[in-house]
Amino acid sequence: VTRTGRELRLVRRPQGRLDADCFELAETTVPDPADGEVLVRNLWLSVDAAVRIRLTESTPEGYLPPIGLHQPLAGLAVGEVIASRATGFVPGDVVTHALGYRDFALVRAGDAALAGAGGLSVVDTAAAPPEAYLGILGHIGLTAYAGLLHVAGLRERDVVWVSAAAGAVGSVAAQLAKCWGHTVVGSAGSPQKVRYLLEDLGLDAAFDHRDGHLPDLLRAAAPSGIDVYFDNVGGAHLEAALTALRDGGRVALCGAVSEYEGGPSHGPGNMFQIVAKSLQLRGFRAGTFTDRTAEMRSVVGALLADGRIALREHVVDGLERAPEALVTLLSGGNTGKVLVRLSAEA
Ligand SMILES: NC(=O)c1ccc[n+]([C@@H]2O[C@H](COP(=O)([O-])OP(=O)(O)OC[C@H]3O[C@@H](n4cnc5c(N)ncnc54)[C@H](OP(=O)(O)O)[C@@H]3O)[C@@H](O)[C@H]2O)c1
Repeated sequence: VTRTGRELRLVRRPQGRLDADCFELAETTVPDPADGEVLVRNLWLSVDAAVRIRLTESTPEGYLPPIGLHQPLAGLAVGEVIASRATGFVPGDVVTHALGYRDFALVRAGDAALAGAGGLSVVDTAAAPPEAYLGILGHIGLTAYAGLLHVAGLRERDVVWVSAAAGAVGSVAAQLAKCWGHTVVGSAGSPQKVRYLLEDLGLDAAFDHRDGHLPDLLRAAAPSGIDVYFDNVGGAHLEAALTALRDGGRVALCGAVSEYEGGPSHGPGNMFQIVAKSLQLRGFRAGTFTDRTAEMRSVVGALLADGRIALREHVVDGLERAPEALVTLLSGGNTGKVLVRLSAEA
């Protein structure tokens, strides 16, 4: 059977702020799966900040390669298997994989896509709706969970600062730290988001990072300092954290969204704080912790079932609106996880 489907391609590299004209929707023919492949009809697409890093001509050493011009974007998606020539996958299975930004994906089983985070795998839709596996029970939950526990090494009574705390990873990290009994400070980019952090997520303190001098805002929110910084933003946020961290403090370097659109990429000017206070800064990627997925789903799933944690969704309908969804995320127009519903059946 020859099928046609649409895919979203990069046709122009953004300079500075991303705009939706950098992309084009193209029709493609979708062949039947070859040996070892499955054909998936995508239902939901995860829109992630890190895609922006791959839209430039070169990417940082050690990171995923740039997306080629006139090539389709890649990103995590969940969909339904409609044909399979790979063992372990049958039509009707709901799977996650890394070939989002298109209607149909031809996925090779066993490939460690997106540095480990995007391998083809079947999800349990009796336990949670498909899109949850792109959010709280997927790479977002894993990033927040592993970042706090296995990277920052949370200890009892730690005071935790989470930046971009109204976003996907940040809101899960902030809620988890709260559930585990920590004092949690969150920051985000608008008064509405600050209200969301205080009133809906019940954080101990929150501030708007646009509302003044960052070190002062942080000092006011955590007058005795912090022990852990969960960094989603980098740049000036990281610099403020180094000053606020107490002796033996730890930083989980999760992302640096303030730098993805060509913002300042110089390091903090106060690096000696790391020596002076015996700080530990550790970068990580969710793909390194995929062996913790079952552990995360059991812990986070229980909190979810008890109504103690939730991830808001910012849903945009239609593949043609994925560029707009990405622009929204990068400019802070979202609260919670940005998803694109790719199919009316989703
Ligand atoms: N290490 C990993 O494996 C891994 C996995 C997933 C995500 N991440 C990282 O986690 C972070 C959050 O990603 P996400 O997908 O969950 O996105 P998100 O937090 O849902 O959305 C991004 C948020 O970043 C904030 N932001 C944008 N520019 C900013 C700036 N200049 N200064 C401060 N805040 C800014 C915006 O919120 P405001 O309104 O609050 O400014 C925006 O809502 C990113 O750094 C991402 O790369 C890492």
